[in-house]
Amino acid sequence: MTDRYAVIGHPISHSKSPLIHSLFAQATAQDLEYTAIEGHPGAFAQDLADFQRSGGKGLNITLPFKVDAYACATHPSDRARIAGAVNAIKFDGDRVLADNFDGVGLMRDVEHNLGIPIRNKRVLILGAGGATRGLIEPLMACQPAQVWMANRTLSNAQALANDLAGVGHINTSTFAGVDGPFDIVFNATSASLTGEAPPLPPQAIGSGALAYDLVYGKGLTPFLKFAQQACPDVVVTDGVGMLVEQAAEAFAWWRGVRPDTAEVIQRLTVPLI
Ligand code: ATR
Repeated sequence: MTDRYAVIGHPISHSKSPLIHSLFAQATAQDLEYTAIEGHPGAFAQDLADFQRSGGKGLNITLPFKVDAYACATHPSDRARIAGAVNAIKFDGDRVLADNFDGVGLMRDVEHNLGIPIRNKRVLILGAGGATRGLIEPLMACQPAQVWMANRTLSNAQALANDLAGVGHINTSTFAGVDGPFDIVFNATSASLTGEAPPLPPQAIGSGALAYDLVYGKGLTPFLKFAQQACPDVVVTDGVGMLVEQAAEAFAWWRGVRPDTAEVIQRLTVPLI
């Protein structure tokens, strides 16, 4: 019988996950169906239970339900616990196993696909919301020399750094207070969605640095444009690789086989212009 999986979010119509997982299933000859579910804000637990009862095998969870999904998990991974958020679920009888592959997907994109080792690098993260929280533990596991978190509201960065102090030390500042240069800069704010760039000093971007915007499909975002102007030899990228790599991690967790990602990333890439 065909195994059923889905992504749940609100809104969900623009999700690329059904396409990505269908391509993975074809490439690995796995008999599965993967659909998109429009979730109901305030009723996530019900939507999850309905899918489980109907025989579904697993779910991806996207905005705005990642924290709700954590609350529904009976067996969250350590990573999910630290993130306080879940983006993949696997049903095992009554057990709801849960993980968060966003951060590992990002690190794999940087180290494996872009070929940039994170070990001993100075890393700047912009933003102190849910996206940043989810990537700290996988980032620390790559052993960077330094992790600095800059945020519009300094107190939010300080609170998050305190909360995650057990995972590793994080310097915090406002955007203007950043003391660069950095080798890798991740934009994990939602500023790109409103066409803005965090107001960083240009010297934050080191020579030959990687500027990585976690958003996908927005072309050359104001942050990436800023990075190019700040430093001509910067490498810029958006979050397409992260999106596909987190999907591959979930697929491997569910099916026991890790699909190749290069062709899928190429197919989904939107030019950075
Ligand atoms: P997500 O789950 O996507 O991380 P979030 O938890 O709402 O979303 O966090 C959004 C982050 O983007 C926050 O760090 C926010 O800064 P504040 O803590 O000051 O609110 C940041 N952010 C949102 N809009 C921004 C903008 N226009 N410029 C800079 N930072 C912005």
